[in-house]
Amino acid sequence: MTGTLNVVVGITGGIAAYKAVGVIRFFVKEGHSVQVVATAGALKFVGRPTLEAISRNPVHTELYEGVAEVRHVALGQAADLIVIAPATANTIAKLAAGLADDLLGNTVLASTAPVVVAPAMHTEMWQNPATVANIATLRARGVTIVGPASGQLTGNDSGPGRMEEPETIVAAALERVRPTAKDLIGKRVVVTAGGTREPLDPVRYIGNRSSGKQGVALATAAAARGASVTLIASHLEVPVPDGIEVISAPTAADVLTAVTDAAATADITIMAAAIADYRSAEVRQAKIKKETTGDELTLTLVKNPDILATLAASHPRGLVVGFAAETADSEDDLIELGASKLERKGCDYLVLNRVSWSEGFSTDRNSVVMLSRGGDIVMKASGEKLDVAHSILDSLVSR
Ligand code: CTP
Repeated sequence: MTGTLNVVVGITGGIAAYKAVGVIRFFVKEGHSVQVVATAGALKFVGRPTLEAISRNPVHTELYEGVAEVRHVALGQAADLIVIAPATANTIAKLAAGLADDLLGNTVLASTAPVVVAPAMHTEMWQNPATVANIATLRARGVTIVGPASGQLTGNDSGPGRMEEPETIVAAALERVRPTAKDLIGKRVVVTAGGTREPLDPVRYIGNRSSGKQGVALATAAAARGASVTLIASHLEVPVPDGIEVISAPTAADVLTAVTDAAATADITIMAAAIADYRSAEVRQAKIKKETTGDELTLTLVKNPDILATLAASHPRGLVVGFAAETADSEDDLIELGASKLERKGCDYLVLNRVSWSEGFSTDRNSVVMLSRGGDIVMKASGEKLDVAHSILDSLVSR
């Protein structure tokens, strides 16, 4: 769906209601028309004049207002998208049960538009089995749940429960209504994602900071475009959407086995996982104890196979795409490092991103340059990892 959208922003009674102002602002800035439906609780946290000034429309609260225009269903019927931010545990329970005891409940029930929910509550409430079951119900019904993020909550406590940032909520919501080209129907796409963990003993491992977000975004984007997708998952910090086959591969050796098998029939294999270059020469069967190791512990590491290079050298029938994270000082240095890595690995394309202590890992955004054989730049993209994923697939499809 393109052009101006009729967006209903539902705001419910939590402290994060003040952040809903940011959500409305982003939609208005993008040129969309916003109708705010606020519960009575929401208006205790954020003022009606603020919401009206930012949305440029009257705020709707009362079920028995505008009866002549049948407003209790009109807002939902006219909506292209409904975003509820913040959604309290109470509202989530009401949505799961299909209650219509307020204007927001009626609006949601009367609508066929995609619904995006950004929960915000204390960790205990988020993790309560009642909320967990309600969220599962909403997900099964096709509702997109964005967040919650983890961090400082309203009191002294911290943990999962913070409402996601407005920009992230709006991006996820717009993604729901974005028309996706079904240009990968009938294609098989294999993606490796996450960071491997190489065990030292039953409780310890050598790992890396990869969250798996870019790899999961690639799998999600490929599935949305109609591909049949296999995700070879090392340690992931994000959930994988339904409809994607997941093969667990905690270590580099597991990835090698899984990807060799899956790539044999794939049209595209994308190696987005951060594979450990080395593993411990010895994996102890019992926990390493300080009493026996003393003040210094020396670990001997042995090189893992280079999976990407092995795969490329086996000339599978499909395209092979590598990723490279580099700590380069400039874009020129980054591209130079990438071009020589591409040559070394022998893959068809290499997607390069710059990493540092604060860039690249765990974030929701990414900035990449894609090189083809010979080191030519075929694409540059920055933005949400899902958008970057689509840009990568656009390049692969067009070639
Ligand atoms: N890769 C792989 N097997 C390894 C290491 C990396 O298949 N043992 C893949 C990654 O999945 C990625 C690409 O190779 O697609 C580049 O990873 P990177 O860590 O940047 O490359 P390395 O070869 O490890 O080079 P460096 O010495 O720069 O770490």
